[in-house]
Amino acid sequence: MLADVVGCLSCPHCGGGLALTGRVLRCAAGHSFDLARQGYVNLLTGRTVRGDTPAMVAARVAFLDGGHYAPITAALAAAARAVTAPGCILDLGAGTGHHLAAVLDALPGRAGLALDASPSAARAAARAHPRSGAVVCDAWRRLPVCDGTAAVVLDVFAPRQGAEIARVLHPAGVLVVVVPGTRHLAELVGTLNLITVDPAKQERLERTLGSPLQRLRSAELEFPMELDHAAVSALVGMGPSARHADAGVLHQRIAALPEPVTVTASIAVSTWRRTP
Ligand SMILES: C[S@@+](CC[C@H](N)C(=O)[O-])C[C@H]1O[C@@H](n2cnc3c(N)ncnc32)[C@H](O)[C@@H]1O
Ligand SMILES: [Zn+2]
Repeated sequence: MLADVVGCLSCPHCGGGLALTGRVLRCAAGHSFDLARQGYVNLLTGRTVRGDTPAMVAARVAFLDGGHYAPITAALAAAARAVTAPGCILDLGAGTGHHLAAVLDALPGRAGLALDASPSAARAAARAHPRSGAVVCDAWRRLPVCDGTAAVVLDVFAPRQGAEIARVLHPAGVLVVVVPGTRHLAELVGTLNLITVDPAKQERLERTLGSPLQRLRSAELEFPMELDHAAVSALVGMGPSARHADAGVLHQRIAALPEPVTVTASIAVSTWRRTP
């Protein structure tokens, strides 16, 4: 793990900084955490949280590798490029690290940190980019990140809480949030009986990010995706319906779709700064 990345991490027990010796991260109080063989570190303490399963992560790798969400990745990179604050690029609920890796490619001087509750996701994210580290943690609890060390926090279809994000952001840093719009995947939602994530309306985003953060701007992004049946399966497999749907029924419904099928991606990208 890179020194720049380790410099952003804090001990989940005492909040102190962590230093890397060999393959062990240690704070001044003596709490220690082994790097996993796959290059990530688990900084989750106490109860475990349910992140994405290995099958969901594999589906996410397959779908994102198809380039279908490239306009979303490009919007993230453009927003991150505009930030001049010092610090790392932190991706909260980073999944496979796909978006973070592209943002780091666009920002050659920056290091990145992928945070996710899922060990499978962290394994993938640890491999996603040479300038990125990956950490297992819970986005709903205190983040294992030092105060003010993130120039950019990315949050793409992932959990978010304003107070912790504001704490880890540099005073001149920016949070970039991607949430689905009401028309997101509209062509598939009814046909495949997908679980819809409550589209984060203006008020809901305002509520979850609260007074510690202020919205700078927000833009809607809508684009068509031409998906073959394998891509539709991957798209469904990486989302919440994967946990609940009957695989046989889903397979039949996907097989009955035209191929390729045109599916709308509809999202909102907003940027936020710490409330002065
Ligand atoms: C819909 S996926 C988005 C992944 C990635 N941002 C992307 O767009 O490809 C949501 C991610 O949040 C993670 N997650 C869910 N609950 C979490 C929590 N409490 N803390 C941290 N990550 C969590 C999941 O494991 C999953 O990787
Ligand atoms: Zn400690």
